[in-house]
Amino acid sequence: MSKKIYLYGNWKMNNTYSETEKFFEEFTPAYAPLKADANLEVGIFAPFTSLWPLSQGAKKNGIVFGAQNVYYEPKGAFTGEISIPMLKEYDITHIIIGHSERRHIFLESDEVIAKKVKAVLDAGISPVLCYGETLEERESGNTFTVMERQLKSAISSLIPAEVNKIIYAYEPVWAIGTGKTATPDQAEEVCAWSRKLIGDDKVVILYGGSVKGSNAKELLSMKDIDGALVGGASLKPASFLEIYTAYKG
Ligand code: PGA
Repeated sequence: MSKKIYLYGNWKMNNTYSETEKFFEEFTPAYAPLKADANLEVGIFAPFTSLWPLSQGAKKNGIVFGAQNVYYEPKGAFTGEISIPMLKEYDITHIIIGHSERRHIFLESDEVIAKKVKAVLDAGISPVLCYGETLEERESGNTFTVMERQLKSAISSLIPAEVNKIIYAYEPVWAIGTGKTATPDQAEEVCAWSRKLIGDDKVVILYGGSVKGSNAKELLSMKDIDGALVGGASLKPASFLEIYTAYKG
């Protein structure tokens, strides 16, 4: 049996409420032929303001869905933040935590990311934990030191059942939105190394960074890559689903 592929789309700060409704007008018929494929799990992560139409479209199509960030406190004086109980009312299944844009643009620390991961797990939601090195860190030979710090700080205080519930997304910062993809061997090397560090053969590890139809097959065929976290190419149903059809060949 061929492996299960996780195709997750991170819309970032794209797709308004009405654009999300339009997305699903196209997505639903395009996804129909793939819907029964037990080897495919599709997920979409939208801005908070698009979560309602996302939840409607996702439930109709039987895909998983969620937000791209959350705050770890349940409520209180945290102006501008969104809590997990607020998101739970949308029936979300997953939340992206620690995306490199959160780490680098919004200066989220490993400590904050660890608290978010724990709070999301405690709520029975799956965190999609992103990690990865910058170009500078790679070129100075620090790729694995940086990732070890990012991964260990997020999971070292968790019990194995929690560690397994996390979906891991290796996203080299230099490959995100740049059109520069990691080679399949580079991506595989890190994903295989991550699996060992996490200490569980069965955890789900995605690769992210300029994934599209034209490079999907070689990346997704690698042994330790279970799927893709897709930014730019996830904004249109055709380019998003093409990633899976290209892999299947
Ligand atoms: P990209 O983004 O596919 O546009 O490179 C990936 C991501 O940041 O999750």
